[in-house]
Amino acid sequence: MRGGEGSGKTSLTPHLVEFLREQGHIVFAMREPGGTIISEEIREIIKTLGDEKMNKTTRALLFQAARAQIVEEVVKPRLDLGQIVICDRYFDSTFAYQGYGDGLDLRFLDSLTKVVTQGIIPDITVLFDVEAEIGLSRRKKAGGIDGFDAMPLEYHQRINAAYRMMAREERGRWLVINANAEIDEVKQELLRSVVNRLAMRGNIEGGKRSAER
Ligand code: TYD
Repeated sequence: MRGGEGSGKTSLTPHLVEFLREQGHIVFAMREPGGTIISEEIREIIKTLGDEKMNKTTRALLFQAARAQIVEEVVKPRLDLGQIVICDRYFDSTFAYQGYGDGLDLRFLDSLTKVVTQGIIPDITVLFDVEAEIGLSRRKKAGGIDGFDAMPLEYHQRINAAYRMMAREERGRWLVINANAEIDEVKQELLRSVVNRLAMRGNIEGGKRSAER
């Protein structure tokens, strides 16, 4: 699950999890940064100290460090068991924010990504494509402006453009959803498109309880 601020990604992900579970899949949901004791501690450091005083490379390394831990401790073992892992953010967020947003070297981020993810790339990556103005006004209404949200509009537009570009470059993996619509409409589109994509991949059995056989 990827998307800029206020895209609805985080509130709608539990609906997808629930939906897939109802279909009989074993689903493990997690968020980045976080998801393990060590990664949650790193999240705290980013949240409390990750303001403009934090060196950009330091911040990128912290996101990657949290990721290395969650991949090793959680993602890899679950996938090895044949479960579906749904992640609210993963390595594309580092490319979008630290790469295209903060201007860090993409090759540096890429080589680090290969190491920390152990080469694990999602089968499907959903982009909740929202106009920056709409996303930020949703955040404001919800009273949740913090950290990255407070960055200028232009920064958020750059992040969104980066996500769209990544999605265009790797169409097989990305699934782009119009997140400007009303939340209920976005939810329906999310469920419908994931089901279609799973069926297209002939993957509908992946992670089903019957996979425990
Ligand atoms: P979080 O509170 O989890 O918000 P969200 O619901 O938007 O995911 O905050 C995570 C923030 O960290 C978010 O603003 C995006 C940013 N981020 C990066 O800059 N790089 C990364 O690699 C990741 C995973 C997140």
